[in-house]
Amino acid sequence: MKKYLVTGGAGFIGSNYVRNLLEKEQDVSITNLDKLTYAGNLDNLKDLEGNSRHKFIKGDIGDESLVDELVREADIVINFAAESHVDRSIGSPDDFITTDIFGTFVLLEASRKHGVEKFIQISTDEVYGSTEGASFVENDPLMPSSPYSASKAGADRLAYSYFVTYDVPVIITRCSNNYGPFQYPEKLIPLFVTNAMDDKQLPIYGDGLNVRDWIHVVDHNDAVDFLIEKGTLGEVYNIGGGNERTNLDITAIILEKLGKPESLKNYVEDRLGHDRRYSVNCSKINALGWQPKHEFTEGIRETIQWYEDNRWWWERIKSGEYLEYYKAQYEK
Ligand code: NAD
Ligand code: DAU
Repeated sequence: MKKYLVTGGAGFIGSNYVRNLLEKEQDVSITNLDKLTYAGNLDNLKDLEGNSRHKFIKGDIGDESLVDELVREADIVINFAAESHVDRSIGSPDDFITTDIFGTFVLLEASRKHGVEKFIQISTDEVYGSTEGASFVENDPLMPSSPYSASKAGADRLAYSYFVTYDVPVIITRCSNNYGPFQYPEKLIPLFVTNAMDDKQLPIYGDGLNVRDWIHVVDHNDAVDFLIEKGTLGEVYNIGGGNERTNLDITAIILEKLGKPESLKNYVEDRLGHDRRYSVNCSKINALGWQPKHEFTEGIRETIQWYEDNRWWWERIKSGEYLEYYKAQYEK
């Protein structure tokens, strides 16, 4: 039985990862360490209740003694835990530095001490900054431009330094924008879908022509598993969906699928330091034999449908009910 320590596994990508891995592989067990910040949600893991191969632990990746105890038992560590929302990092960067950098340091230190088989650092394509020209390759300079992406770049390079200096078996992934079920409704797609469903305005930053490359969360997670098998230690791998769209393109798809009017579009003040375009060249992982499987038009329509079918999930978050629920459970 291979023992995984997954951090941030109550968030969007991590919860999808845990579910998919338990479905795909019978001989794995997962300890899921998550602080349950505003973005962590046990509703994301409801269908895993009673699964003996999944153990949830509420805790902080910056908690040295807890992390030491959990890493000691793990074969593979995958660090999804992070403060992940750019707008929040602009308003209040503190937690980003603490979790994304210091938390990663604590996990790396424990992994150095106990000798894990693999340490996967989930970085992001945002570490490169913006490009209006060629897509970024893995050895391009890092030019992060928000406190979020700068903190992720710090963690990314710290992980690399633990490979070079201490032989910690690190692999670093830099993925593009994910979409899919269970994404917190502060991010573009779930925010616009759920607002449009309720006939609320869609706040488009600036001119709406910023470009992101969208990948289905299941494809991202499959790429992580692929790299655990096939990746070279100490290397960085870009992961992208090959679907670059402007925010206005995404808005149009959402309005059309939901049958809602253009009048919901509301151009608002731009995000500070708003990166114009993210674009990654994925030749390196493609050469190893990985390709995303989800076709975008179909994937986005299914995702919109998921939010239509799971109003209970996002209404609890948007109404603040979930925060009250978990505080009652955990902060007695
Ligand atoms: P998310 O905000 O939905 O989830 C983050 C999870 O981490 C939450 O469950 C939260 O409770 C947990 N967490 C936060 N601080 C913690 C701490 N100190 N200790 C333990 N747990 C903590 O984020 P996401 O979109 O699922 O992103 C997951 C990872 O993937 C992040 O590292 C992010 O930088 C990276 N990433 C995200 C995308 C994307 O498009 N969403 C793309 C590329 C990379
Ligand atoms: O590229 C990977 C990154 O993608 C991840 O590392 C981050 O964790 C993740 O949050 C995401 O960052 P973005 O800033 O690209 O995602 P977000 O959904 O916040 O915004 C996507 C685009 O939509 C961006 O150009 C800003 C714009 N936007 C966003 C919101 C929330 C709007 O126009 N209006 C909005 O209300």
